[in-house]
Formats: sequence, C-alpha cells, structure tokens
Amino acid sequence: MERTLSIIKPDGVSRGLIGEVVKRFEKNNIKIVAMKMIHMTKTEAQGFYAVHKERPFFGSLTDFMSSGPVVVMVLEGENVISKYRELMGATNYKEAAPGTIRADFATEIEKNIVHGSDSPQSAVFEIGYFFNSFEIFG
Ligand code: RTP
Ligand code: MG
Repeated sequence: MERTLSIIKPDGVSRGLIGEVVKRFEKNNIKIVAMKMIHMTKTEAQGFYAVHKERPFFGSLTDFMSSGPVVVMVLEGENVISKYRELMGATNYKEAAPGTIRADFATEIEKNIVHGSDSPQSAVFEIGYFFNSFEIFG
C-alpha cells in the first residue's frame, strides 16, 4: 500500500476543476484519505518545491503556486504514485496522453492543473509538509 500527495494547483481551483479531478480519483478507485484547501505563502511554496531551487523556472513556479488557494490531498492505494502520475499525464500538456488530466485541461507547461509526488521518498516529504497523522484517515 502506497500514499502520494496530490495538489490541485491554483489554475485548477480558479477554473472550477476540483470536482473534475476528484471524480477521476473516485472513478479509478483511488482512495482520498486526507483533503484540505490552503493558500501557500511564497516561502511555503519555495520550501515545497526546494528540489527545483536551481531550475530556471523556480521563481515563476513558486509565484504561481502561491498565487491562490490550492487543494491538497493524500491518496492511498496499491501503486498509487505511478497510477496517479498516469492519470495526470506528462508535465508538458502537449506531450500528455489523451484523456489525462493535463491533456484535457492544462493551458501551459506551468499551469498544468495538478501536482503528484514522483517517488515514495518525495511522497513522505510532501505529505508531511501539509498533513499531520491526525489529519489522515487511512
Ligand atoms: P509536479 O511536480 O507539479 O507534479 O510536476 P512534474 O513532476 O510533472 O514536473 P516537475 O519537473 O516536477 O516540475 C514541477 C512543475 O514546475 C512547472 N514547470 N515549469 N517552465 C518550465 O519549463 C517548467 N517546467 C516545469 C510545472 O508546473 C511542473 O508541474
Ligand atoms: Mg515533480
């Protein structure tokens, strides 16, 4: 059994896509075991995406991620890390497979609706960044 962190990014929330994303989890038997809405400060976004701090898009990405409220969720299931990344589609929506969340809704490489952890190690860090054990109902 695995857990992963999902974020519906500010573009997904402002465009009214929370229900659409949640529906895809429920349809695909991905269990939501924690959920809340938060608005990250710039500093909090920088801490969350610290792995990318040397990347040229770090400033823009952390501005975007702190630009409005997001929905953070913990998902649980067998192979949920890769299962959810398949549902999301490639980072660049132009390369995302048809029917994935990013292919269906993303508008830019940065504004790509959703985030998902990319490994068990990053999932542990990312879940712990937003949730304590009393907020997860696994
Ligand atoms: P995420 O972490 O958000 O789930 O996305 P990912 O693994 O598919 O992509 P990653 O390489 O971790 O990049 C994190 C986020 O940074 C933005 N990005 N912008 N301008 C650019 O070239 C660029 N590249 C990445 C995207 O919002 C991406 O999801
Ligand atoms: Mg990533």
